[in-house]
Amino acid sequence: MSSRKITIAIDGFSSCGKSTLAKAIAKELDYIFIDTGAMYRSVALYCLRNNLVHNNEINTLEIIDVLPKIDIHFDKNQISGKLEVQLNKEFVEPFIRTMEVSQLVSKIAAIKEVRAKLVEEQQKMGIKGGVVMDGRDIGSVVFPNAELKLFITASPEIRTERRYLELYQTNNTVSKEDIRKNLEERDHLDSTREESPLIQAEDAILLDNSNYTQEEQLQVALELVKKAGGI
Ligand code: DC
Repeated sequence: MSSRKITIAIDGFSSCGKSTLAKAIAKELDYIFIDTGAMYRSVALYCLRNNLVHNNEINTLEIIDVLPKIDIHFDKNQISGKLEVQLNKEFVEPFIRTMEVSQLVSKIAAIKEVRAKLVEEQQKMGIKGGVVMDGRDIGSVVFPNAELKLFITASPEIRTERRYLELYQTNNTVSKEDIRKNLEERDHLDSTREESPLIQAEDAILLDNSNYTQEEQLQVALELVKKAGGI
């Protein structure tokens, strides 16, 4: 098969290592990596900063109203040297992984108008191919014609442990129990919402990485990219 730059869609439950895999594939193949969860998280951050959240509850109409004021883009951060999400021209990566944002983001991501705005942006970024995009609806909605679709999963215990290790670096008061609950809640909301729920696309390949190291997982994925004509 000829080698060209394809579109790779990676979907799956929260904290399955989708971004880790997507980043590694992009680095290996010189593709662009887009973390779409960071875009939904940035909208959630905007809502928190602008007092649109009261006791973790949102008013959907109020959020739809402010959407024109929210600009979400990716740009190269000169400090990290990486492509990072920007909320109204500010690099917000350090602020979007907190428990506060995690507890809100699935509600924000269930709003049809929020999805329409972000999906349009995602489709523009992937128009030329050569993209590895991770999220919940990439293979089903954003790029239904992606040449390779992966659906990643891992056991709840392993996902909790991975997220705990990641969060503990910046917040050593967070408990495993809170993380496990948050993952369960988000998975439930993400899979049962009306708008573009998290589903495995019919033509997506299921990859359970519970027992893989990151390197093993990358090698499995690269073989699949090869089969799909992307290497
Ligand atoms: O991948 P993540 O955990 O950073 O994503 C944060 C939330 O955003 C997640 O709970 C679901 C939502 N999301 C979505 O609905 N669609 C996407 N394409 C990406 C994320």
